[in-house]
Amino acid sequence: MTLSLVMRSEAALLLPTYDRNPVMFTRGRGVYLWDSTGKKYLDFLSGIGVNALGYGHPAIQKIISGQAGKLIHISNLFFHEYQAKLAKRLIQISGLDKAFFCNSGTEAWEGALKLARAYAHAQNHNGHKAKWRMLALENSFHGRTFGALATTGQSKYRAPFAPLMPGVGFVEFNNVEDLKRQFDASVCAICLETIQGEGGINPLSQEFLQAARELTEKHGALLILDEIQCGLGRTGRHFAYQHYGIQPDIVTVAKPLAAGLPLGAILASNKVASCMHPGLHGTTFGGGPLSCAVAVEVLKQAERLLGHIRDMGDYFRGELEGLARKHASVAQVRGLGLMLALELKSADLAKAVARQLLDHGIIINRTHETVLRFLPPYIVEKKHIDEVVHALDAALNEGALKAPPTLVTKPGRRSKP
Ligand SMILES: Cc1ncc(COP(=O)(O)O)c(C=O)c1O
Repeated sequence: MTLSLVMRSEAALLLPTYDRNPVMFTRGRGVYLWDSTGKKYLDFLSGIGVNALGYGHPAIQKIISGQAGKLIHISNLFFHEYQAKLAKRLIQISGLDKAFFCNSGTEAWEGALKLARAYAHAQNHNGHKAKWRMLALENSFHGRTFGALATTGQSKYRAPFAPLMPGVGFVEFNNVEDLKRQFDASVCAICLETIQGEGGINPLSQEFLQAARELTEKHGALLILDEIQCGLGRTGRHFAYQHYGIQPDIVTVAKPLAAGLPLGAILASNKVASCMHPGLHGTTFGGGPLSCAVAVEVLKQAERLLGHIRDMGDYFRGELEGLARKHASVAQVRGLGLMLALELKSADLAKAVARQLLDHGIIINRTHETVLRFLPPYIVEKKHIDEVVHALDAALNEGALKAPPTLVTKPGRRSKP
């Protein structure tokens, strides 16, 4: 099928939820993808932070084909050997005590909110005053299901679906005074992305995260960190909160966990986990043998790459800062490890730069209007970073705006994987 036929078919057959780029990918290898015309792309988005080990990783391929021939799904009514193996590893690296497996980021987040409420109910029964409110952050993003939307601080996602779950207050990003002002005894949890992803790569300040931890400890509330985008090695440590030296009560992870197979997880301390019992939460597909077996290998590979991620992240950041010094159109460089952003002063320019790079066979992403987001695979090398920085430099030099606003990509380099 050609791209234009697929585009026409999708337009007729699918809910119009996506404004896709007019590119159809057919295969990938390492940090590269190839489209249906044979054009090669350098991928600095990794399927929005999912393909952390790149494409066609031999160890992952081996596990998928071996396990697919044995057992893909069994449901959570029976045991298989990989949930405990994976949980053991996640517990070791997170410093938490218990895991629950599900299928996606939003499902992990939804479960984390339920866990917080269940914990609050248990406390209420123990004679505490009613605790049920939650605090989240302005500009946050936690997913598309109702609980996730209720804690997502962006009206464009929330307003079309109102009314949402009540009782969520939004605190100004990194504003400790606002956090203190909104925090009271009715709060059962503070919900934070350690580094806001979709909101434009905004790391929490040390002061803010510290204040959130102290307030929750003082008032018997929970600190829930969403590390769906920033966790599992992306920042050069297993979890982004480890850069802050702060331990949460609940953490959610997903994106890179099973190398592209759908898998998410909630990790919780024993204190929180003790409020769960059979029947209180569950999922049909979550934590199947195929995805969990793959995830065990992903964690092994990611651990080996942590130093490399830090080195490449520092190098990339330094290069982006060089661009910021050179181009007046750059507002700021942000991020940690291989979760980086270049904020431009103009949304039109950001859109044009992302499009120009795509034309030249480089995949990046524009988020929050003005922010160019980079989530390259962990296996990225200096030469790939140099190529992206060079292309960004050229696009910023040209103001990219002069580029025709075409939706058709130019033929680029061609080669076999
Ligand atoms: C921080 C964060 N939380 C939650 C989600 C939702 O994850 P999913 O799209 O897998 O439901 C995302 C997705 O981008 C995310 O970045």
